Amino acid sequence: MLTKLLKICCNSRQCTFVKPFEAMPGPRGPFGLGNLYNYMPGIGAYSWLQLHKAGQDKYEKYGSIVRETMVPGQDIVWLYDPKDIATLLNERDFPQRRSHLALAQYRKQRPHLYKTTGLLPTNGPDWWRLRSQLQKELSAPRSVRNFVREVDAVTQEFLTFLEQSVEAGAAIDMLPKLTRLNLELTCLLTFGARIQSFSPEEQHASSRSTQLMHAAETTNSCILPTDQGLQLWRFIETPSYRKLRRAQAYMESVALELLEQSVQGSSFRSSLIASYAQNPQLDRLDVVGTAADLLLAGIDTTSYASAFLLYHVPRASEVQLRLHAEAVKVLPQAEESLSADALRTEITYTRAVLKESLRLNPISIGFGRVLNQDTLLSGYFVPKGTTVVTQNMIACRQPEHFPDPLSFQPDRWLQQRSALNPYLVMPFGHGTRACIARRLAEQNMHVLLLRLLRNYELIWRGRTDVELDIETLLINKPNAPVLIELRRRPA
Ligand code: HEM
Repeated sequence: MLTKLLKICCNSRQCTFVKPFEAMPGPRGPFGLGNLYNYMPGIGAYSWLQLHKAGQDKYEKYGSIVRETMVPGQDIVWLYDPKDIATLLNERDFPQRRSHLALAQYRKQRPHLYKTTGLLPTNGPDWWRLRSQLQKELSAPRSVRNFVREVDAVTQEFLTFLEQSVEAGAAIDMLPKLTRLNLELTCLLTFGARIQSFSPEEQHASSRSTQLMHAAETTNSCILPTDQGLQLWRFIETPSYRKLRRAQAYMESVALELLEQSVQGSSFRSSLIASYAQNPQLDRLDVVGTAADLLLAGIDTTSYASAFLLYHVPRASEVQLRLHAEAVKVLPQAEESLSADALRTEITYTRAVLKESLRLNPISIGFGRVLNQDTLLSGYFVPKGTTVVTQNMIACRQPEHFPDPLSFQPDRWLQQRSALNPYLVMPFGHGTRACIARRLAEQNMHVLLLRLLRNYELIWRGRTDVELDIETLLINKPNAPVLIELRRRPA
């Protein structure tokens, strides 16, 4: 052990005194039995639905690195210091995540459909084999740009859907509508399929779109309760596991149906899945798992992020005016198509607005890794195999990192950018394990913002007495309706 410590110490940039893991501050629970009780409804001070508040509380009580024992033998180290976050996210080898464990079990029990547990929970060489093949189409700038025209066309349909869904002058509850937009876009880009989720028939509770939206959110909301704690679902079917299993069974049936159509049908356009199906490095079961993963990861992520964007923009009138001016520059005629080139080179302000919205409201509180080697963090020795989670959302709201941290100021990203630490605002993660669809998601949100701001003035109709807060369903969801009135601008 001593040799190991010395080795780490001497490898670190400044040879500091290495503090033992046991000395790291943080809650261990009564008699060292763990702090899990503190998350139990009606008993503890924390809640899975309010992880950011628990994160802020631990930061205030213990400082910028915290070791929390959940149950004996199961610790989480929370990181708030960008230097530590950088060390963690720049790990060598295959970065490992410990999440979506119940989803992994569900998939392992269905070997006729899944070869691996999918991109989200799989680790090691199996994960890299998939990731390295999938990211060619999903992450490369050129292939992402190829989708602009279709995304723009669907976004314009979405605006008509919004206008038709309420009387002129009435407020629109945006999140359910944005979820339909991102469901439609995910199905289009993944399978080349239009599922017509804006149509009147698809608004019913029993329709395919509505059920898919519900199943995606149910699955996400079951991940934290099944990942943490005693994991009784490994032995008996707990209520959370049952909800996840049923939601996944539904999503899987739709993924299989769309996949069949995508690979066979001439009426279906080119799509990610059609390209994967032709890749000799991927077999049919890889493609099924990927279809299910994209359907799960594509819907709520972009919808929640867009909802927060539409919370911030209408409340800042100068921001809205500048966005409108940029939208007019790239779309002098509202009815023309957005060009991929304009998106690439001419929307500096739109990009800054999205970045600032994701600083204040990232959809994940941070990123988790299981250390694949002993690591020195803030001078503490942290052993290989420890779960470490970054607290970027809390860190991004501290005055030592951002002046006037709670105010929405897109100009931060235009003026003092080089002064900002790159390991704080990382809404899509970092490194080889970062979001595989980052460019696609950003592009979709840029198109939405430009189209909305080109055509409408947005008026905030939600609560003004309190700030919109979040609810953590694995990803951060607005905790109250995002109510917007759209006032048409002259063409
Ligand atoms: C605003 C939208 C989105 C945000 C903010 C976001 C954010 C993230 C984050 C933070 C991670 C974990 C990164 C890490 O651990 O370092 C992640 C992973 C992932 N995301 Fe996204 N995401 C978004 C949209 C999407 C979409 C649209 C898809 C698919 C259609 C997607 C698919 C995935 C997948 C498959 C992973 C796992 C990658 C891996 O482990 O290799 N995401 N995303």
